[in-house]
Order: sequence, then C-alpha cells, then structure tokens
Amino acid sequence: MIRELAENFRPVAPPQLIDDAYSTDQHARLLGAVRDNGPWPLILAENFSTPEEVIATTSGTIPEGVKLTWDMIGLNPVFRGYLARGGTCFYPELEDCYYNSRFLELVRNYWDCEYAEPETFLFNIQGPTPIGGPPHLDGTVFRGMTMENTPLWLLLTMAKSCLFDRWRSKKGQVIAWYYNGRIGGGFNCWPNGPSGEPVQINAPMWGRAVVVENEMMFHHGQATGPVAMRKPQGMDITTTFGADPEDLTGWQLETFGKVIQKVPAQEMRFLVHWGARLFKDMADFKRTYEHTDDIDAETAIGILIEDMKKRGVQFEVPTDPLHDNAFVGLLASVYDIGGPANIPADALDEAA
Ligand SMILES: [Fe+2]
Repeated sequence: MIRELAENFRPVAPPQLIDDAYSTDQHARLLGAVRDNGPWPLILAENFSTPEEVIATTSGTIPEGVKLTWDMIGLNPVFRGYLARGGTCFYPELEDCYYNSRFLELVRNYWDCEYAEPETFLFNIQGPTPIGGPPHLDGTVFRGMTMENTPLWLLLTMAKSCLFDRWRSKKGQVIAWYYNGRIGGGFNCWPNGPSGEPVQINAPMWGRAVVVENEMMFHHGQATGPVAMRKPQGMDITTTFGADPEDLTGWQLETFGKVIQKVPAQEMRFLVHWGARLFKDMADFKRTYEHTDDIDAETAIGILIEDMKKRGVQFEVPTDPLHDNAFVGLLASVYDIGGPANIPADALDEAA
C-alpha cells in the first residue's frame, strides 16, 4: 500500500459553491423527465449482476462454502439514470440544461482553460440511505485510453499511481442537489487531500451546487433521511426507483413488481451531475482530437512495471499482463492508496 500517493489527490482548485444551479423551470423539466421516463435502476446494477462480482472488485475474498446474498452486501438504495452523453442529449426538453453556457463558463474558469465541452449528464435519485460507501474518486480516462478500449482496473490503477498525469483528461463537474429533508443528505469532500479536514456541504439544499474535480478529490454522500427507513426490506439488484402513481409528487421503490417502500417528496434526494471535458488551449484541443500524444496499454503497463521495480516490488514480468489475474492482483495491492480516515459521523434522527 502506497499511502503517500493518496496525498496527491487534490482538485485543481477548491470546490466552488453556487446557488440556483438550475432555474425553477429547468428543475421542473429535469424532475418531469425523471418521473416520466422511470423507473430507474440501482447505481450498482450498472456494473454488477451478482454479489460475488462486487466482492471481487472491492477487497474481500469469500470464505469457502458461503453463498453470498445481496443482504450481506448491503445494497445502497441509490438509483441512477442518464440524461445525455457526449454530444447527445437524450431528452430535447433538457437541451438548455446540458448545453449550458453558464456551467461551461464556470468549469473553464475553475480550470483556467480556454475550451470546454459537455460530456456527461446523469442523476442520482434516492430516498433515505446509509452513507454512500467510503470516500472515493470518480473514474478518469487518458488520451488514447478510455472505457472504450481499456479495462476499468487498468484505468483505476493508472489514476492511483499518479504516473500518467501528462495524458490524463481534464474534467470538471457541476454537481447540484435538491433535498429538503431534515436529516443528513449532504456531501463530504476532502479538497486538501485525504489527511486534510473534510469539507461538508450540508442539507437542506435546493439548487445548491459545487464546481469540482471529483476525479482528484475524495468525496461521498452523507447518510440521508430517517434511520429506520435507510435499509428498505426486499432490496435486490433489480430494485428500481420511480414515480408513485398514487401520489403526484411521491416516489416508490419496487422489486419484481412489488412496492417495497414509498418515499414522500420531502424525503427524496435528487442529485444532478453535469460533467465537462476541458482543453487548456487550441494546442491541447488538437493534441486530443488529432491523437498526436496518446498513450496505449502496452506503454502504460511498461511504465507501471518500471515503477514497481524502482519501488523494490518482487515479481515476475508476465507474458500477457492484461489478462494475467495474478499481475492484476499485484497492481491492485501495490497501488492501493487508501483514502480519508477522518469521516464525519452520520446525522441521526433528532429523537435517536
Ligand atoms: Fe463520486
């Protein structure tokens, strides 16, 4: 474990708070699209279909003879949908929210970059939940190596190693929240590195947003809502979140067509994540789009191997590193950089 690497994870600038991220009308259209086009799957369902797969990507091994269940994993009831990707906005009524001049200017200024393009637009939606896992970094990509041609474990290792900054994409986000609940539901982040003091952006928040670089700043969501409602019974990887047909503003969680929890509007937390890619100047833009300085997997693996040798790690260089499980495991353990330990306590019910 290389703890000192974690201290490199500081955003290009401190998080910048803004209010009224979206106008009342924009917010109504965003929420309308979410109500009309749901229900929405769990975030976890994007990447995993069995509890074993979750364990394999975290740290744990499964004791022999144990059959994992979703109950044992503790599925966090946070759900996600996509509103746009790359140049395409999936809902014409949200085009002004996505091709957003105000947000583009905010991230250009945040990064001190000349150019920006909107790249991602998604939302998280939830009722009461436990804390959103340990503080994490959002996944990043590099010129020439993205999710389209590179396994996630290699991108994560490259990011954690801090050896590939020359190729790393510049990204900025405007993360906005709509949550009027009374218990938790805010955002914790570590802009001064994982050993620095956490910054908390606390609820209630209605249209409050931060301009951030979440690939380079540890962060997570706070536990949200009444404690007794945070772990709905009957959760499964197929559980969905959508509009309650019996309540014009309410929501519900469903598993296999059975409603397992109703969430009144007051307890619903809606996070809208807008992300952009930045280019320092025209030379940077051309370098990216004309692929004049891309990196490939072979070069990346070579750099990692050299670094591990320098660090005195004992290992055999594999013949097919991209498909060698032992080597993948070695990289995961060498570049396990840890994260913040000073996590603020959860907000609990006033009566508790
Ligand atoms: Fe994140």
